[in-house]
Amino acid sequence: MRSLNLYGGEPLHGELTVQGSKNSVLPILAATLLSREPCEIHNCPDLLDVRAAFEILENLGCTVQYDGETAVVDPTAASRSVIPDELMRKMRSSVMFLGAMLGRFGRACISYPGGCELGARPIDIHLSALSRLGVELREDGGDIRCLLRRYLPQTVTLMFPSVGATENVMLLCAAIPGETLLIHPAREPEIVDLQNFLNCMGAEIRGAGSDCIRIRGSAQLHGCSYTVIPDRIAAATYACAAVACGGEVLLHKTEPGHLLMLLAVLRDMGVDVKEDEDQIRIISDGRPDAVPLVKTLPYPGFPTDMQPLLMAAVLKARGSIVFNETIFENRFKHVGEFLRMGADVRIEGMNAIVNGVRRLHGAKVQAADLRGGAALAIAGLSAEGKTTLGGVEHIERGYVAIDKALTELGAKVAWEP
Ligand code: EPZ
Repeated sequence: MRSLNLYGGEPLHGELTVQGSKNSVLPILAATLLSREPCEIHNCPDLLDVRAAFEILENLGCTVQYDGETAVVDPTAASRSVIPDELMRKMRSSVMFLGAMLGRFGRACISYPGGCELGARPIDIHLSALSRLGVELREDGGDIRCLLRRYLPQTVTLMFPSVGATENVMLLCAAIPGETLLIHPAREPEIVDLQNFLNCMGAEIRGAGSDCIRIRGSAQLHGCSYTVIPDRIAAATYACAAVACGGEVLLHKTEPGHLLMLLAVLRDMGVDVKEDEDQIRIISDGRPDAVPLVKTLPYPGFPTDMQPLLMAAVLKARGSIVFNETIFENRFKHVGEFLRMGADVRIEGMNAIVNGVRRLHGAKVQAADLRGGAALAIAGLSAEGKTTLGGVEHIERGYVAIDKALTELGAKVAWEP
């Protein structure tokens, strides 16, 4: 267990280059399995979840070389189609390998994936979409055994635009000749990135980012060299830190178009937001104005991943804000820790009502999940005195060198000896 000390209460001033996207690179790493040649993935962030994906690839028989920036995956010798339970439990994205293994081998055996405990997180939408495509599923003592007897290219409709289910369908269909229409898919930028990567490998996919994706698969997917998009949630984290602490922060290598909702809400709160082609500048006095409601929704709505981050940024707002969480039923675990710092937040069902306070004070707090942990770091930096943040390994699943990144923004942080 690692703990980080944050010495808060000072404005932030600094510049930072944003890391590559975790939620893009994980399905892209799974997709490399579909190729018969090596693939080069640039802007691949050095994260615990990325290391877990490498372990799964190696376990399936691929070789992986990684220098902290570029991963070269050679899937030529991949031969296994089973992921052991201990690897499945390491992260939620292990489930992406289901579509990839079915595309490559026509069979797969997995158990239920791990990851942040944000609620029940079932995989029923993944499994029903795959079975519509001709995959036979059998549950056996906690294992899910899948066999693609006869691929049935057709129209598949998702009842909810699940990110993971959309990616699993794309991964399977990209590797098999035939045309499938995916209706009501997730529209996140990471879905567009996966489309672009699969097209680089020789698939023909159109429509990612819209309400319908058309996938024309190919049995001859080849190697390619690809650069992953910037991480919009990491960018949002550092932007929210600047809002919470006040000061001026410049983020390089970002994609402002992927952060439309957050930037619009920040502007409504009176924060000075300047965008350039691949830069975002945030200027704040540390006490944003209240807005009535922030409601999480599938993209392009306000992202659930940014809910804890924005909540941390408005603990000292002028007025009250209601956060309505509609995606995950257990995503307010950070609230109890905010209270230790003197915040005024009340939970009523799926709403958290924040009444802005003038001051926060440092406290000992514990991260329980990735974005909730990052939110505690933001709150700690805007609180006066020392905050000791435990459970940093949750944060390290999704943020590259969080201590160095915060230091570049002018924060005072140090590892607890
Ligand atoms: C992705 O998770 C992201 N993870 C999550 O980011 C993100 O919070 C989430 O999408 C929503 O935007 C990755 O991309 C690796 P979903 P995923 O399937 O694919 C329900 C982070 O912090 N559902 O869109 O697991 C589910 O329970 C992580 O970086 C079903 O009911 O999300 C949830 O309520 C955390 N059945 C909702 O849909 C299913 O079969 C959204 O889940 C699948 C999902």
